[in-house]
Amino acid sequence: MNAAESAIVCGIPVAQKSMNLRSIILPSIVALVLTPGLARALDIKTLWTKNCVQCHGEDGKGGTKMGKKLGIPNLTDPKVQALYADDELFKRIKEGVNDADGNVRMKAVEGVTDAELKALIKYVRTIVAK
Ligand code: HEC
Repeated sequence: MNAAESAIVCGIPVAQKSMNLRSIILPSIVALVLTPGLARALDIKTLWTKNCVQCHGEDGKGGTKMGKKLGIPNLTDPKVQALYADDELFKRIKEGVNDADGNVRMKAVEGVTDAELKALIKYVRTIVAK
């Protein structure tokens, strides 16, 4: 490709410099759109950030202010992960967890579909320390 040809991309004349940038960014966007697994992973991370991080912390270790106050378990601890099977976690997160006195510990999650909750549980399984 000579300079005259490369200066026109999609009918829009662009400077030679931004052409280099485009040739990196465009294929990346295409790859993102064409990789459903990746796009999905991003969505789940958003759900996690929106619904869970305030208590569990970005890393799931529960080191947040709320986490310390409530004595939230470290989700990356294999022992904590082993406490409940996926279907039990589903119920606990969906319906919430109360203490023996009936005080809410983990509130029932809102605005998350069952499919999203299943994906969130899969995500939680990935943050366990190996
Ligand atoms: C209001 C704070 C709060 C929020 C928000 C919250 N949790 Fe929890 N979570 C807790 C507490 C407290 C516990 C410990 C419950 C217990 O005593 O077993 C817990 C426990 C857990 C456990 C371990 C199993 C258990 O019941 O002990 C998992 C897994 C979990 N949460 C996932 C999530 C996910 C996923 C979200 C977001 C959809 C979320 N949590 C949102 C407070 C919260």
